[in-house]
Amino acid sequence: MLRFDQAPPFSVPLRFFLTAPAFAFLAALVALRQGPALFESRWSPAALAITHLLTLGVLGMVMLGAMLQILPVLAGAPVARPRAVAFAVHAGLALGTLALAAGFLTAEPALMALAMGLLGFAFAVFLSALAWALWRVRVVSATVAALRLAGIALAVTVLLGLWLAAGRSGFGAMPAPALRDLHPAWGLLGWAGMLIAAVAAQVVPMFHMTPAYPKWMRWLPFAALGMLAAGWIAGPVGLYAGFAATTLWLHAKRRRRQPDVNFVFWRAAVVCSLAAALVWLATPYWGGQMLVGVLVIAGALLSVVTAMLYKIVPFLAWLHLQARLGAQAPNVRQYLDERKQRRQLWLHLLAVALLAAAVTAPQFFAYPAAILFAASAVQLGSNLLSITLEYRKRAAS
Ligand code: HEM
Repeated sequence: MLRFDQAPPFSVPLRFFLTAPAFAFLAALVALRQGPALFESRWSPAALAITHLLTLGVLGMVMLGAMLQILPVLAGAPVARPRAVAFAVHAGLALGTLALAAGFLTAEPALMALAMGLLGFAFAVFLSALAWALWRVRVVSATVAALRLAGIALAVTVLLGLWLAAGRSGFGAMPAPALRDLHPAWGLLGWAGMLIAAVAAQVVPMFHMTPAYPKWMRWLPFAALGMLAAGWIAGPVGLYAGFAATTLWLHAKRRRRQPDVNFVFWRAAVVCSLAAALVWLATPYWGGQMLVGVLVIAGALLSVVTAMLYKIVPFLAWLHLQARLGAQAPNVRQYLDERKQRRQLWLHLLAVALLAAAVTAPQFFAYPAAILFAASAVQLGSNLLSITLEYRKRAAS
């Protein structure tokens, strides 16, 4: 049973959610400064900086914030000192991500060392809080099992990332090339993929009024973890492609026909995941790794995370207002005009399409893609801020 009376203060997750769009905007600024050269290599300093501004600064921010929110609710017990934990994780992640991006861009070992210290600290605090809460859960549902496995995958990603960062900045030996591929695999196919599949299993049937996912899908995180541990990357790619295809099939059976903003974000994520799997299969022949990165990170993961933000932030505003105002709390639809969400949806989709086009024709599309990406980040930030201001106004009244 979910225990919402154990929910932490609104400020705990909110600071993560409000910071995420700023990192998306920063990523767009780096892309603008770099121009078409960005698309030359996935290991270029600017590409690595943007990758981490998005994976740590946007996806990490939202996922860690959401997990800190849900943990006490799932565990039925409050996290000790939620404000202090949130402050440490948020500050460490934000400053560490900035230092890492700056470290990539300048190749300055001192910045890399700073990033390693800050990120190592933030993830150590977060993973300890996660382990503590998940340990206490009495009834291990499929969601709890997936969260545990996603936590393991995050720990492996971070350790491999710290190792790579140490190697790059001359503090240690660089891992062998085969190991270098494992870090993004554990991050994207392990941590992010498992978490999103677990979220999808809960929210797609509920928000889009579809039948439930087939029962065997519960084994997806276990299978993905086993395959990653065996170093078999094609395995999880196939699993997620199967999961995405199942989501399309469920969408075809949905009872609510009107496609709302949430539905379009999810549909875009599914299409991008399937396209990424196809491109990945063809990669040895035409070198599409950059396109895979764009489709997975900007197309699939960012779309889902944005869709979730538009559900989570108004829900939490309502939850906390309800505790103060009771039945007078406005319902979740009243915090943000749907047209503003729709505007950001289109900016985002156009930005993803232009980014994908920029992989093959950077001279034409690199700048328009970066500008649209920046515009989408600004609109997202302004939308989340509107919800927060509406909450404050009502709470003060
Ligand atoms: C403590 C946190 C992290 C650190 C210190 C870190 C560090 C690094 C470093 C140094 C590289 C360059 C690898 C090389 O030169 O071969 C890299 C690449 C990469 N990392 Fe991270 N990383 C972290 C977290 C993450 C997370 C959470 C994700 C994804 C969810 C991620 C995704 C990637 C990707 C996609 C690449 C590009 C690799 C490629 O194109 O092959 N990283 N990371």
